[in-house]
Amino acid sequence: MKGYFITFEGIEGAGKSTQAKKLYDFLLKNGKNAVLTREPGGTQLGKKIREILLTPSEEIFPPTAELMLYEADRNIHIHNVIKPHLEKGYYVICDRFTDSTLAYQGYARGLKIDLIKNLNFIASENIEPDITFLIDIPVEEGFKRIQRYRKKDRIEQEHTDFHKKLREGFLKIAEEKKNRIVVIDGLKDENIIFNEILEILKKRDII
Ligand code: TMP
Repeated sequence: MKGYFITFEGIEGAGKSTQAKKLYDFLLKNGKNAVLTREPGGTQLGKKIREILLTPSEEIFPPTAELMLYEADRNIHIHNVIKPHLEKGYYVICDRFTDSTLAYQGYARGLKIDLIKNLNFIASENIEPDITFLIDIPVEEGFKRIQRYRKKDRIEQEHTDFHKKLREGFLKIAEEKKNRIVVIDGLKDENIIFNEILEILKKRDII
C-alpha cells in the first residue's frame, strides 16, 4: 500500500489519543495527507457498534459477543476508512487496533489468543500497521487520570485485576512484535513523548 498505517495502543488513561491527535496535527501542518480515526467507532456504522460495546447493560454481555462486535467494527472500518486511505497514499493514524483486541478480549478477558489472532487476521484483511506506539503507564496512574476527567464506561468499570492483566498483555504483545511495536514511557511529559515519537518515525523513514 502507498500510505503509512500508524496505530496507538495502551490502557485507559495512557494518553494515546492525545499523541495520535498531536501526530495528525503535525502531519497536516507539514502538508501531508492524513486521517485520524479510531476503533471502535471510526465509521457511521461503527459508532452504533461502539455505543453497544461501551454502554453499561443490565443484560449478560458474553465475551464472545463482545469480541465479534469489535471485529465487525474493524472490518467495516478497514473497508470504509483504512484501506481506501492507504491506497490513496494517506497517513492513517488509528487510536487502537488489533493489539487492543488481543490485550482486552485475550489477555484480560481470557478468550483464546489463537482464536483472536485468526479473527484479527480476517477482520483486518491482513492489513498490519507499519508501526505501533504502545504508551505504557502503571494501572493506578491510568485510573487516577480517567477518574479526573469523566464517568467510566462499561469496560473502564472492570476491576483492577482486569486492568493489570491488560497492561501485562500489551507488554507481552510488544515483546512478541518487537519490530512493529515501540513501547513509550507514558509517565513522561506529553511534549517529550511526542518528540520521541517524531524521532522514531524519522529514523524509520516514515515521516
Ligand atoms: P477508547 O476509550 O480508547 O476509545 O476504547 C474504547 C474501549 O474499547 C476501551 O475500553 C478499549 C476497548 N477495546 C476492546 O476491548 N477491544 C478492542 O478490540 C478495541 C479496539 C477496544
